[in-house]
Amino acid sequence: MLKLWNFLKLKNSFKLIGLRVILRPVLKRDFKIINQFFKDQEIIELAFGVKYEKNFLKNITSDYLQNLLLCLNKTFVIEVNKKIIGFTTYTYEASQNCHIRLGITIGDKKYWNQGYGTEALKIFLSYLFNKIKVNKIMLDTALFNQRAQRCFEKCGFKKIKRDSETNFNTAFSKIWMSLNKEDFKDEAAG
Ligand SMILES: CC(C)(COP(=O)(O)OP(=O)(O)OC[C@H]1O[C@@H](n2cnc3c(N)ncnc32)[C@H](O)[C@@H]1OP(=O)(O)O)[C@@H](O)C(=O)NCCC(=O)NCCS
Repeated sequence: MLKLWNFLKLKNSFKLIGLRVILRPVLKRDFKIINQFFKDQEIIELAFGVKYEKNFLKNITSDYLQNLLLCLNKTFVIEVNKKIIGFTTYTYEASQNCHIRLGITIGDKKYWNQGYGTEALKIFLSYLFNKIKVNKIMLDTALFNQRAQRCFEKCGFKKIKRDSETNFNTAFSKIWMSLNKEDFKDEAAG
């Protein structure tokens, strides 16, 4: 599926190219669209794995978007036919240099369940393991987010533990998943 993807260096920017999706580093102007994704309560609940009242969700979203602006070089938008449908981002785990934590949001709901998330993630994983030279990728997702878990499993992630976070007397269970470089089946490498 991803055999045709290329890693193209174009001046100072580059693109990760799949059959249907293109990933490129986020630009400040893209935040207009990313901010728009987080106006939708369902997106916020799935992305953060919580269900709270609107004002609380608004606050966590605004903190998250502020932090995202500090990670421009670790955030890529996902495009389909030149339209931004989502983004993916990573941060280093403070304690371990080659371990990262990953997040993905397809913010345009019309594109859910059509394999775009899986394709984008596989391309991004190939880039992270081969170009950024990470060894291990972790992520966590809400127990109720079955779609995300399935998408991550299709990319090779394995469930490693269950955890729970309690806020405002409500506990939210989450699933931690991880993928090691040696277990990643790199379809992009052909
Ligand atoms: C999670 C997300 C990235 C997945 O991307 P996507 O393009 O929708 O996912 P894909 O189409 O590649 O794969 C989804 C899979 O989940 C399956 N699925 C969908 N709803 C499901 C459900 N309720 N239970 C089980 N599986 C489900 C789909 O059938 C598909 O599996 P299949 O190919 O075996 O049929 C995207 O939906 C998204 O960004 N959602 C909102 C934010 C979010 O949840 N982010 C992740 C937070 S950790």
